[in-house]
Amino acid sequence: MMAEIYLNGAYVAAEQATVSVMDRGFLFADGVYEVIPCYGGRPLGVDRHLERLGRSLAGIGMRDPLGRDAWQAVFARLLAAAPDTDQAIYLQITRGAAPVRDHRFPAASTPTVVAMSKPLPPRAPSIAEHGVRAILCEDIRWSRCDIKAIGLLAAVLLRQQAAEAGAEEAILYRDGQVTEGSTSNVFVVAGDCVMTPPTSPRLLSGITRDLLAELLRAAGIECMEQAVSVPVLQQADEVWITSSTREVAPVTAIGGQPVGTGVPGPLWREADRLYQDYKMRLRSGHV
Ligand code: PDD
Repeated sequence: MMAEIYLNGAYVAAEQATVSVMDRGFLFADGVYEVIPCYGGRPLGVDRHLERLGRSLAGIGMRDPLGRDAWQAVFARLLAAAPDTDQAIYLQITRGAAPVRDHRFPAASTPTVVAMSKPLPPRAPSIAEHGVRAILCEDIRWSRCDIKAIGLLAAVLLRQQAAEAGAEEAILYRDGQVTEGSTSNVFVVAGDCVMTPPTSPRLLSGITRDLLAELLRAAGIECMEQAVSVPVLQQADEVWITSSTREVAPVTAIGGQPVGTGVPGPLWREADRLYQDYKMRLRSGHV
């Protein structure tokens, strides 16, 4: 059975889920999105995701067209289609369609609201064993990366560049400072200190990032929001990337150079244990 897609208040088959070519999402990438991982039918960090959605919408002059309870009902219905599978919910809101193409906000328009779900496959065993490779690239994106905007062309090009180099991610820097990955946040370990670049308009405040920082601190591991320069990244003992779909992944090579000893490090194992434990508690309804 083809999964249903939520589109503007209705649940429709994928082939019926169509929007106008006049939609401002299509014409201008005028919209925002969220990706929410779900375990055992429970969305992880749903309040944080919806709060960030509210901030992204505010950043483009829009309001949440649904609100928390309505979103929860949409998620529950999408997840019910495959109750035994871990899933990733994708939702997108655009400023909707207007009669003519005009950059200025239309006086009146109805937002286009889409949500869908797809299976979230378990992590490949090779990741914990060998880690993933990354490349290092200049951050060519815009200056409001704190907004989870659907305009992802720069991220698409960077991630493709990584893929063509046989790497999983492009780690980005701007003015000599690491910002984030093209689709993830970055953590760096130097000695027993864990660092991640501070939130700013230059990067997305990742939900996985924030949760991991809290889990580490609760376990007595120092985790600081601190600027990370390119040389600090290159001399790090460990580098991790985090995202809703990749969890906490160890980066073991950057641009062909090994990170630390070139294998997933001991602090990554601890971070991963904390994150997996959180997922287990979520599955059993204990968080
Ligand atoms: N991307 N930074 C960027 C640029 C991202 O695209 C993402 C996630 C993150 C991590 O955020 P979170 O932990 O909230 O997933 C950071 C999603 C998964 C995507 O675009 O598919």
